[in-house]
Amino acid sequence: MLKGGASVVHTISGSMSRDAQKRAAADAALEIVLPQLTRDTIIGIGTGSTTNCFIDALATHRHKFDAAVASSDASAARLQGLGITVIDLNAAREVALYVDGADEVNGAMQLIKGGGGALTREKIVAASANEFICIVDESKLVAKLGQFPLPVEVIPMARGLAARALVAMGGQPVYREGLVTDNGNIVLDVFGLDLSDPLAMEPRINAIIGVVENGIFAVRAADVVLIAGPDGVREL
Ligand code: A5P
Repeated sequence: MLKGGASVVHTISGSMSRDAQKRAAADAALEIVLPQLTRDTIIGIGTGSTTNCFIDALATHRHKFDAAVASSDASAARLQGLGITVIDLNAAREVALYVDGADEVNGAMQLIKGGGGALTREKIVAASANEFICIVDESKLVAKLGQFPLPVEVIPMARGLAARALVAMGGQPVYREGLVTDNGNIVLDVFGLDLSDPLAMEPRINAIIGVVENGIFAVRAADVVLIAGPDGVREL
């Protein structure tokens, strides 16, 4: 829970730009994270521009915890560049917290992620963490998931096979040109899927042969969502 248990964490006079909102959400996450840090803490770190704000804010506190586990090579490089030790997930005794952004968030704290193509490692680190804190600006909040095309990571040779299965499920998959994931795979961005039951759809898509992972985070939803708007940050 945030300072004083209040639903509004930070109020800001005037109206914030979207970048300022991302920084405000990251600062609010830091406020939750800092009291939980010990010398032994391993913290999970996501990927994307909002998470980058969190990484930057965390850097001055790097002596208060042990190490980070990163959900992408890009985040690992940023963490290391700021002097934060990055370890392999398999070497982590426990991941206390995971902080990451999202492309869409609904009222049940279910997410679409993978706009940056890092969805599989993000889901692995999120699933390993005791607590998942999601940080977004208010443009990410939706009544129903699915306006944002659903990223699906696919083994390259299964691209056509998986695309046909996604079409049969009502989607329109678009191959994300030029992207190779950190795992050496491709991403299909799928428009038009009915995601009114995210908990059912997540395993259904993952059952397609050749699909590595999809960007619905419902089986492991967020535990805390911090939403930054023009007037401050609130907890969902
Ligand atoms: C990365 O693969 C994504 O899941 C990101 O977390 C998501 O796209 C949010 O990114 P931004 O914070 O840059 O909007």
